[in-house]
Amino acid sequence: MVEIGADGRTWLLSGPTSSYGLRLGDEDELLHLHWGPRIALADAEALAAGPGPEYWAFEATLDGHEEYPVEGGPRFVRPALSVRTPERRGTEWRFEGYGTGGAEGTEGAAGAGDDELRLRFSDSGLGITLHYRMRAGSDVVERWVTLANEGPALEVLRADSATWTLPLRDGWRLSQLHGRWAAESRLTRSDLTYGEKVIGSRRGHTGHQHLPWVALDADGTATEELGEVYGCALAWSGSWRIAVAQLPDARVQITGGAGYDDSGLLRLEPGEGFVTPVFAGLWSDGGFGGASRAWHAYQREHVIPDADRYRPVLYNSWEATEFDISEEQQRALARRAAEAGIELFVVDDGWFGARTSDRAGLGDWTPNRDRFPGGLKPLADHVHGLGMQFGIWVEPEMVNQDSDLYRAHPDWVQFQPGRRRTELRNQLVLNLAREDVQEYLWERLDTLLSGAPVDYVKWDFNRAFTDAGWPGEAYPQRLWVDHVHALYRLLDRLRAAHPGVAFESCSGGGGRIDLGIMSRTDQVWTSDNTDPLDRLAIQHGYSQVHPARAMAAWVTDSPNTQLNGRVSSLRFRFVSAMAGVLGVGGDLTRWSGEELAEARTWVELYKEIRPVVQGGDLYRLRAPEGGLSAVQYVRGDEAVVLAWLQAQHHGEPVPPLRLRGLDPTASYECLETREVHRGAVLLHHGLRTGLRGDLDATVVRLRRK
Ligand code: GLA
Repeated sequence: MVEIGADGRTWLLSGPTSSYGLRLGDEDELLHLHWGPRIALADAEALAAGPGPEYWAFEATLDGHEEYPVEGGPRFVRPALSVRTPERRGTEWRFEGYGTGGAEGTEGAAGAGDDELRLRFSDSGLGITLHYRMRAGSDVVERWVTLANEGPALEVLRADSATWTLPLRDGWRLSQLHGRWAAESRLTRSDLTYGEKVIGSRRGHTGHQHLPWVALDADGTATEELGEVYGCALAWSGSWRIAVAQLPDARVQITGGAGYDDSGLLRLEPGEGFVTPVFAGLWSDGGFGGASRAWHAYQREHVIPDADRYRPVLYNSWEATEFDISEEQQRALARRAAEAGIELFVVDDGWFGARTSDRAGLGDWTPNRDRFPGGLKPLADHVHGLGMQFGIWVEPEMVNQDSDLYRAHPDWVQFQPGRRRTELRNQLVLNLAREDVQEYLWERLDTLLSGAPVDYVKWDFNRAFTDAGWPGEAYPQRLWVDHVHALYRLLDRLRAAHPGVAFESCSGGGGRIDLGIMSRTDQVWTSDNTDPLDRLAIQHGYSQVHPARAMAAWVTDSPNTQLNGRVSSLRFRFVSAMAGVLGVGGDLTRWSGEELAEARTWVELYKEIRPVVQGGDLYRLRAPEGGLSAVQYVRGDEAVVLAWLQAQHHGEPVPPLRLRGLDPTASYECLETREVHRGAVLLHHGLRTGLRGDLDATVVRLRRK
């Protein structure tokens, strides 16, 4: 709901539990009013009538109060918008008007019941529109900015999507997700201090190092289930930056958008425009868990395509075979996968071009005839004959120097003349900003998906940008943004042409997980780290913002050959991977009959709990910090608990798990034991898991009676 004050200068957006308010000041400055619990328009008007920012000689009156601080004038905060013409630096904008509803300049499709507010400003022919949208039934505020240049050409050094302002409190604690390859999404919390905390990626992709999300709670008082939490997440899959600033008067603002540096984002010729990605914000008073559940619901309802269709259990051959693949071997794996009850069989790297190692073949998206003499169709038909869907791996944005594509078009990569072309994993990055590259990829991928019955594409991105040059282009800097837009367009076009094909976003594991890519893919590969214990911490971090419905997790071999050699039971591996979209990635041809039979039991159990895991509300019962950890999913009358015991120590009893989200007045039957538990007892005293020893795990299903 968007409400407008009597003077037409105060606006209030409200979701089910929260409101967001802003107003125009006496000199048409756009000032923040409120972000927090739901309030009435009269409350917002009372706030607007209150005293404005105070004036001090050495501080800028507006700092910490503006909705979108532009550059120039009495402002010393980091500008959200920074533009240059040969004559002018910065912006002195004038308010032009506002609009509500409708879909003008809309990023993504507006749905029925969505509310949108647009505020239009202009400066010397540059139109700047701030967009605010609350989706039906959600407390997430989506913000973005459109630029429309009707004036002289100008350079946009920076155009953030939004600046978020927090209420004045004594102090704030910042939660963030950091990591590296095979150790993504690690949750860390620290007190905010004066100055700026900046996270982001200058790598051309979202990056393993930080997920584009932050959360803040006042005075460090929030817990998993209690307290106010503010969160912001950026929908962008290229370089990005989020800066959290504690200003001299202790006010906190968070500004974020595409591009890491201020060294140039794009050039706007007369008549050109730009739409920033969405920077979404959420206020919740349900603690970190409540905030996560609201983020998850928002993504299932408004971001992830067809999220009400549950993801199948997949098999992926990468860890089993790496590059050493053949049709016969894939058929053998597929037969085993079908025996285990798997629903989707994915051939990973190595099926195309001269791809017998990571030194060759990227770019040549035709089946390797030595390995697949009849192309992919015979294998796809075999897989379909076994009752499974068929998927393939691709990495379209890359090329090996040893490839037909590179030999034909050495100028199609990002490079700078006379400088080294840096290879990482023996590959170069294609310049997707070029239209000929876009057309080539569209044609190749469309042909591929038309030539064999493919149901699923794992789309990888295995190196960062290093030599982002574009010889011959007047403004080569634009390739950073254009690459991402080209990727989005390609995915959109492929999805439209092949509506039956599902896509997975992968980037050496979890290097491209963000709301932008999630709006165009069906699931994400969480990490190349498939060790079931390491995974618990990665999944814990991922779940802060993203839902289990999109989180791919595989059961692989023990000892874990890929990474740390850890030995763990099938039970532990399966229960770890069942917390998301279950997959299997071990060498099934080496699993014993007993192991395969056990795997089949787990897969069957997963299929039963899938609607609750993929579609339910997540409660993190205990964090994976050693000892016992557990998550619970609740959907309607059903609840599922997954619990893991890392190590049991003598004299330290394993505590019962206090469940959440149940009706205290109801009774629940445990489908494992047929015992009936009272809701109030489960909530207050807890559920005994029976876990013991090292690396034990269990699944408990409860159904309301
Ligand atoms: C990346 C992915 C892996 C696998 C390999 C193939 O590292 O994360 O899952 O697909 O590429 O080369």
